[in-house]
Amino acid sequence: MAISVPSMINSVFLFLCVVLTTISPTLSFHGVQTFIVHVSKSQRPPYLTSHHWYSSILRSLPQSPPSTRILYVYDHAITGFSAHLTQSQVAELQRIPGVLSILPDRPHQLHTTRTPHFLGLADTFGLWPNSDYADDVIIGVLDTGIWPERRSFYDSDLSEIPSGWKGTCETGPDFPASSCNGKIIGARAFYRGYEAALGRPMNDTVESKSPRDTEGHGTHTASTAAGAAVREAGFYKFAVGEARGMATRARIAAYKVCWKLGCFDSDILAAMDHAIADGVHIISLSVGATGYAPPYYHDSIAIGAFGAIQKGVLVSCSAGNSGPEPYTAVNIAPWIITVGASTIDREFPADVVLGDGRVFNGVSLYSGDPLGDSGHLLPLVYAADCGSRLCYPGKLDPTKVAGKIVVCDRGGNARVEKGSAIKISGGAGMIMANTAESGEELIADSHLLPATMVGQTSGDKIRDYIRSDPSPTATIVFRGTVIGASPSAPKVASFSSRGPNYQTAEILKPDVIAPGVNILAGWTGYNGPTDLDIDPRRVEFNIISGTSMACPHVSGLAALLRKAYPKWTPAALKSALMTTAYNLDNGGKNISDLATGKESTPFVHGAGHVDPNRALDPGLVYDISVNDYVEFLCSIGYDEKMIALFIRDGNTSVNCSAQSLPSPGDLNYPSFSVVFKLNGGKDVVKYRRVVTNVGDSVDAVYEAKVWGPDSVEISVSPSKLVFSGEEERQSYEITFKSVVPPNETEERTASASKFGWIEWSDGSHRVRSPIAFWWQPKLVSSI
Ligand SMILES: *[C@@H]1O[C@H](CO)[C@@H](O)[C@H](O)[C@H]1NC(C)=O
Ligand SMILES: *[C@@H]1O[C@H](CO)[C@@H](O)[C@H](O)[C@H]1NC(C)=O
Ligand SMILES: *[C@@H]1O[C@H](CO)[C@@H](O)[C@H](O)[C@H]1NC(C)=O
Ligand SMILES: *[C@@H]1O[C@H](CO)[C@@H](O)[C@H](O)[C@H]1NC(C)=O
Ligand SMILES: *[C@@H]1O[C@H](CO)[C@@H](O)[C@H](O)[C@H]1NC(C)=O
Repeated sequence: MAISVPSMINSVFLFLCVVLTTISPTLSFHGVQTFIVHVSKSQRPPYLTSHHWYSSILRSLPQSPPSTRILYVYDHAITGFSAHLTQSQVAELQRIPGVLSILPDRPHQLHTTRTPHFLGLADTFGLWPNSDYADDVIIGVLDTGIWPERRSFYDSDLSEIPSGWKGTCETGPDFPASSCNGKIIGARAFYRGYEAALGRPMNDTVESKSPRDTEGHGTHTASTAAGAAVREAGFYKFAVGEARGMATRARIAAYKVCWKLGCFDSDILAAMDHAIADGVHIISLSVGATGYAPPYYHDSIAIGAFGAIQKGVLVSCSAGNSGPEPYTAVNIAPWIITVGASTIDREFPADVVLGDGRVFNGVSLYSGDPLGDSGHLLPLVYAADCGSRLCYPGKLDPTKVAGKIVVCDRGGNARVEKGSAIKISGGAGMIMANTAESGEELIADSHLLPATMVGQTSGDKIRDYIRSDPSPTATIVFRGTVIGASPSAPKVASFSSRGPNYQTAEILKPDVIAPGVNILAGWTGYNGPTDLDIDPRRVEFNIISGTSMACPHVSGLAALLRKAYPKWTPAALKSALMTTAYNLDNGGKNISDLATGKESTPFVHGAGHVDPNRALDPGLVYDISVNDYVEFLCSIGYDEKMIALFIRDGNTSVNCSAQSLPSPGDLNYPSFSVVFKLNGGKDVVKYRRVVTNVGDSVDAVYEAKVWGPDSVEISVSPSKLVFSGEEERQSYEITFKSVVPPNETEERTASASKFGWIEWSDGSHRVRSPIAFWWQPKLVSSI
């Protein structure tokens, strides 16, 4: 099937994304390339260590070039190794008994003081005091490394390093032993796959071969997940206040896997392998595949995450920044918690005032001098009339932009780069105007010149004004930080990647949304806040946006929950976060989607926005065991050899014909995606679920309430669950009957999907699951 790669233009984590587009996903030098080789442990000769066995396998290959060497041996995330191989060696390897799969190494891309308050976290009640702020819980952050000298990573009050910790702190000239303390307890760097792809050693005057973060992204995500409280934090005059991560007392283990040109599978897997062996409890990974999500057996992050959950390690990942098109969510395996991004109740307004007196609302983090006195109007031009509608560097005619405010269209290149292009050409300011692609979504950027961003509607009016007025003028008025209920929040960012699930229609993705727009958190001391070479500023905190920022919020919350419930499986923790998520914004309306301005759907927000204090007391959980996931893999048609990739204990004796999961939709997932067949329109789908009572009351009685579209009849049996023992499990069956198929108009306009929900309540708990219905299994790739 021909698959086109969705546009990455909306990517909010821009810097790596932009560089990445210049690098082919299958780098190959002289026909040699890195491959990840999955093997079956049971085939290893007992007298050989894994390393010796892999070496002997490689030596047995014909025309073994001198460069054939093992990059990594993997034992925990997967079983196998990565090595530099030619295509003909790969062909030979495939015939060797015990070799299960050989995948080319691929690069991935990287996809707050206000957020604890916005999430309802408080020192006096709820999840924070009930989890001791996740003291002793270890979060492994796989990212661009860490800048340890930030106040977010200093806490004189912590207890001893958790006794189960087996990791290390890799020290060197760039990363002295003092970089690790009671807060950052481990740090490692993985670059063998990266250097193999480069075909040469990296330039270590440009990037640091240590765990030190020379980019900023990893410092930001780590401090969001587990940053200690920092007073008088802020980005210049913006968002000033106390900055705090989610799991304030959790420990951080930083695994640097992302480099200037991307994050390679072989390095990510090595980091996951170590993280599991080191004893982390949570893996936070704000990185994902480019394009549509690959099948799970080709998806290193999915395979590695399966290794993690077998050891009880929860894996939290970003959904990607490729929205608003459907099917764009990545990291969609059911054993991962997949996080989309939404706004909070804080804005950085910067308004456009036109010469004719009209005012348009925009946002900006510009922190320098304003554009003269307020009311001082400057000439206004449209970049399309000056050589480059998108304001590419070097493409603007300086004679046309000098001294003027330039309107640039959003898209194409990094947002801050547009401003820098204007500055270099002598322009005075910028209005970045959205097009249909980004709609009304506004993202505040720390521009190097006076600049603001406006939505499509305002942008169109400003462009019209330039066309119709003989001497158009404008100014920008910067209004600082505004907190409040208008505009309402949360709203889903249009860049946030969406479902349906590209691989398994019956599993709803993303799972939840969390704050990911204009998030303040720690930053590297190596780069300016825009990551542009011409940006001389250095900041302790930076404000950036992306699902990359949403993921560590959930990682931190999961750490808090894990501390409160140390025996819960990753699936139970995830269920608690999902079934307690909310769907109404702070104005009492259903959460809306910034891409359309309309109500968002479960394909956009999953179960809804995380609600940590409610997650502490979910009442019921939908638990899933490792064996359930194995049954799930059988149900989507994977054979025993494919499933062996996922199983860590060398258990290759999975027998899919003996498995009992009738359909992937029967996995005990805390949400539903129901796919009706279109034949004649009437169809019935039945799913079974098992809930475990984890509430205080052992004899709770839960009753079901369902809501759905007119075109679907929903029934639940039994509709009342009577519990009588601690952690007792009860099952129910839910039947969906499509009574009116979508009409042709609806099918053609792809509005054939409909939504509903089921909620179990005992009077004090509400256990809610979203339901998506659709009638068109289009585009879903076959395995
Ligand atoms: C590494 O980068 C620096 C700075 O850009 C440059 O001066 C130097 O020549 C580079 N070294 C190599 C080996 O490419
Ligand atoms: C929100 O959506 C639900 C359907 O999920 C609907 O029943 C409800 O009326 C909507 N609420 C508001 C306030 O619009
Ligand atoms: C292997 O897997 C099967 C089914 O998935 C399970 O019943 C069995 O206990 C597993 N064996 C080991 C050694 O884990
Ligand atoms: C797999 O399970 C089926 C059904 O239970 C059984 O008939 C078959 O013998 C099993 N195969 C193996 C290799 O155990
Ligand atoms: C199809 O459904 C849409 C939306 O529900 C409705 O507006 C339209 O009138 C229907 N068309 C026909 C031909 O029934």
